[in-house]
Amino acid sequence: MNYKKEWDKLGEMDPLWAVLSDPTKRFNGWDESEFFVTGQKEIDVIMQKVNTFDLPKETKKVLDFGCGVGRLTKALSQHFDDAVGVDVSKAMIEKAKKLHEGDDKQQFIVNQADDLSMFKDDTFDMVYCNIVLQHIPDKNQIERYIGEFIRVLRPGGVIAFQVPSKVPFIHRLQPKRRVYQFLSALGFSHELLYNRLKLYPIQMNWLPQERVEAFLQGKAKLLEAANDTSAGELIESRMYYVTK
Ligand SMILES: C[S@@+](CC[C@H](N)C(=O)[O-])C[C@H]1O[C@@H](n2cnc3c(N)ncnc32)[C@H](O)[C@@H]1O
Repeated sequence: MNYKKEWDKLGEMDPLWAVLSDPTKRFNGWDESEFFVTGQKEIDVIMQKVNTFDLPKETKKVLDFGCGVGRLTKALSQHFDDAVGVDVSKAMIEKAKKLHEGDDKQQFIVNQADDLSMFKDDTFDMVYCNIVLQHIPDKNQIERYIGEFIRVLRPGGVIAFQVPSKVPFIHRLQPKRRVYQFLSALGFSHELLYNRLKLYPIQMNWLPQERVEAFLQGKAKLLEAANDTSAGELIESRMYYVTK
C-alpha cells in the first residue's frame, strides 16, 4: 500500500496520535485541548524566530503543508488573515474540518498530487511544514515539494520546513512498519494490525543538510538551518528558514 493511503487509514483510526505520536496517547488517548496547546507553543516559537529575520512582513496568507487535523494551522491562523492547510489524507482533512468548524480563517484542502499545482506562483507570505517531509519515502519527491514551497511563496516571504538530516541505522530498521506492511500485503486488515497487533506503518526518511543546501542553491536564499528535535531527541534534524 502506498504511503498516501496509509496516512488515510491512520487518519481514520487514530488521527491525533498519528500526528503527534506520544506513546502514552495512542489509541485515541489525546485530550483535544492539550493537543492544540502543543501547536500553539510550537508556532509561538517559530513566529518569534521568523520575526528576527529582516524580511518585509506581510500577513495575508499562510500555507501549512501536511496539516493533519490542523494542529498548527489553527495556531498560524492567529498570525495571518488566511491559513490554508493541505494534506494527502482525506480522513485527516475531514477531521480538521470538523474540529475547526465555523472558523473562517482556516481552510482545509486534500492534495494527493506530488506537487502544489493547485496554487499559483507567489501565493503565500509564509509556508510552514513540520514533521511531514520525513514521512515521504522518496528523497527526490521531498525535494520536489521543497521546490513547490519556493514557487508558491511570494518574494520576500518565508518558508520554514523541517526535515531530518541523518537517521541512525537502528532507527532505519523500523521493524513495526516492516511487519505492518508485510502483513498488510498479505491481506490483514489495518484495524487488526494497528489495534490488536499494535503495529503502525509510519516511516522515517531524511535528507542530508548538504543535499538540502545544494538543492536550494540558485532557487532561494537559506536564512538559517536551525537544530531541531521534532523527530525525537535521537534523530538529527533541521528547521530550514528560507526566503526568495
Ligand atoms: C505527523 S503528521 C503532522 C501533521 C502536522 N504537520 C502537525 O505537525 O500537526 C504528518 C502529516 O503529513 C501528511 N502527509 C504525508 N504525506 C503528505 C503529502 N505528500 N502531502 C501532504 N500531506 C502529507 C499526513 O497525512 C499527516 O497528516
